[in-house]
Amino acid sequence: MSAIRPAAVVVLAAGEGTRMKSATPKVLHEICGRSLVGHVVSAASELDPENLVVVVGHAREQVTAHLAEAAPGVRTAVQEEQNGTGHAVRMGLEVLGGNLDGTVIVVCGDTPLLTGRTLRELAGTHLEDGNAVTVLSAEVPDATGYGRIVRDGASGAVTAIVEHKDATEEQRAVREINSGVFAFDGRLLADALKQVRTDNSQGEEYLTDVLGILRQAGHRVGASVAGDHREIAGINNRVQLAQARRTLNERLLTEAMLSGVTVVDPASTWIDAEVTFERDAVVHPGTQLHGATHLAEGCEVGPNTRLTDTRVGAGARVDNTVANGAEVGPQASVGPYAYLRPGTRLGVRSKIGTYVETKNSEIGEGTKVPHLSYVGDATIGEYTNIGAASVFVNYDGQTKSHTTVGSHCKTGSDNMFVAPVTVGDGAYTAAGSVITKDVPPGSLAVARGQQRNIEGWVARKRPGSAAAKAAEAAAREDGGAS
Ligand code: UD1
Ligand code: CA
Repeated sequence: MSAIRPAAVVVLAAGEGTRMKSATPKVLHEICGRSLVGHVVSAASELDPENLVVVVGHAREQVTAHLAEAAPGVRTAVQEEQNGTGHAVRMGLEVLGGNLDGTVIVVCGDTPLLTGRTLRELAGTHLEDGNAVTVLSAEVPDATGYGRIVRDGASGAVTAIVEHKDATEEQRAVREINSGVFAFDGRLLADALKQVRTDNSQGEEYLTDVLGILRQAGHRVGASVAGDHREIAGINNRVQLAQARRTLNERLLTEAMLSGVTVVDPASTWIDAEVTFERDAVVHPGTQLHGATHLAEGCEVGPNTRLTDTRVGAGARVDNTVANGAEVGPQASVGPYAYLRPGTRLGVRSKIGTYVETKNSEIGEGTKVPHLSYVGDATIGEYTNIGAASVFVNYDGQTKSHTTVGSHCKTGSDNMFVAPVTVGDGAYTAAGSVITKDVPPGSLAVARGQQRNIEGWVARKRPGSAAAKAAEAAAREDGGAS
C-alpha cells in the first residue's frame, strides 16, 4: 500500500438532513461519543492528508463552531446553496487554491462507520492502478436511492455512475452502488468539475458525473469494492442512526475483547470511541463508558455503572456507580450506589461505599467513607475513617469552602464538617457532632447538646397510653428482679 499522503480530503457536510426531523444539523448527531462528521474527520485524519477541508452550508455557524472545538486544524469551506455534490467539492477545492497536485479524497460527512483502513486501501488502489478516479463501491442488499455503478458489458470496466432517480429499469437492477467516497487526481478533478452540467432530474451538479467525463476524455476510471458494505452506510434518519451506533459499539467492544478485556454482556454494554482499556479489565452488564474513560489492568466495573471521563486504577472495583471526571486509585472500592463528581481523586485501596457522593475531593490511601455521606471540597489524609451519614458542609449559599481532615482520624457518625475547618492527624470526633472549629491533632472533639432524661414524664403526660403501660410493666419487672 502506498504511503503517499493525499493532497487533500474533502468532507461533504453542507446538506440539511431533513429526514432526521431535528433542530440539530444531521452531521452533528452523535454516536459513541462523537458527532457523525467527527467520526468521518477522524477516519480521514488517519491518512495524514496535507489538507483536510469540510464543506459546510446548512446551519454552518453551528457546524463550524463544533469543528473548531472537536477537530482543530480542520478547515471549512462554505457552500451557500446546496447545488449538488459536484458543486460542494468545487467549493472545497476553492479554499485550497483550486488546482491540487496529487490525490484528492472525497467523503460524505454522514458515513460514521467508514474506517481509515478502507480509505487507505482506496488511496492505495487508486495510485497502483494509475486511475484518474477510483470510486469506493459496495454490493448492497437493497440499492434503492443510491447511485449505481455502470460497467462495460464486455470488459467490466466502470463507465459511469447513474443516480437512482435518473436510472433506467435495467440500471436499477444493479446492486453495486456508489458509496459517495472517491479518490481523484486533483488536477483532473478540478478540470472535470468545470464541465459538470445540471441537466438531471434534480437540477444539481453531480460529482458522480465526473466519472463519465474523465472516461470520455480517455482517462482510467476504476472502482474499489468495499469488503463490508455496512461500513459505507450513510445516516439519513434516526433508525439508521441507532443501527450505526449499535454497529460501531459492537466494533469497539470486539476490539476491546480481542485486546484482553472481559465484556460479560456486549449487548448491554455501551462504550465511546475514545475509551481505553488495559488487559484483564472486566466490564459487567448494563455499563456505559463515555468520553476519555480508562480502565486499568484487572479492574472490575459494573454492573449498572456509567463512567464519563473517569480513570479506574488497576484492580479497583466500581459497582453500580455514576462517575464523571473522577480518578479511582489502584485497588480502591467504589459503591454499590456511589456518585463521584468532577475532581474526585481516590487513593490506593481507599473506599467509597453505599449512598456516598463526592465532589472535588482528594481521599488518601486506605481512607474509607463507607456509608451515606457527602464529601465536597475536601482533602482527607491516609487511613482515616469517616463515620456514617457525615456531610462536608461546603456551601454557605455564597461561597464554597474547603475542609481538611488529617491521616489516621476516626470521625463519628452523623458529623457535619462546617467548612472552612481542619481536623488534625490522629484526631477523633464524637457521633452527632457539628464541627465548626478546628480540631487539634490527637484530640477528641465533642460538639453536641448534653442528654437530659426527665423521669416519669410519660406516666404524667400520657397516662393510660400504651407507652405508659409498657413503662409500668418494665418498672414492675425491674422491681421483681431486684
Ligand atoms: C449521493 C451520490 C450517490 C451515492 C450516495 C451515497 C451524488 C450525485 N450522488 O447521493 O451516487 O450513492 O450519495 O450515500 O453525488 N452535500 C453537500 N452539498 C450539496 C449536496 C450534498 O455538501 O449540495 C453533501 C451532503 O451533506 C451529504 C453528501 O453530500 O453529506 C451526499 O449528499 P446527499 O444529498 O445525501 O446525496 P445522495 O442523494 O445520498
Ligand atoms: Ca445520502
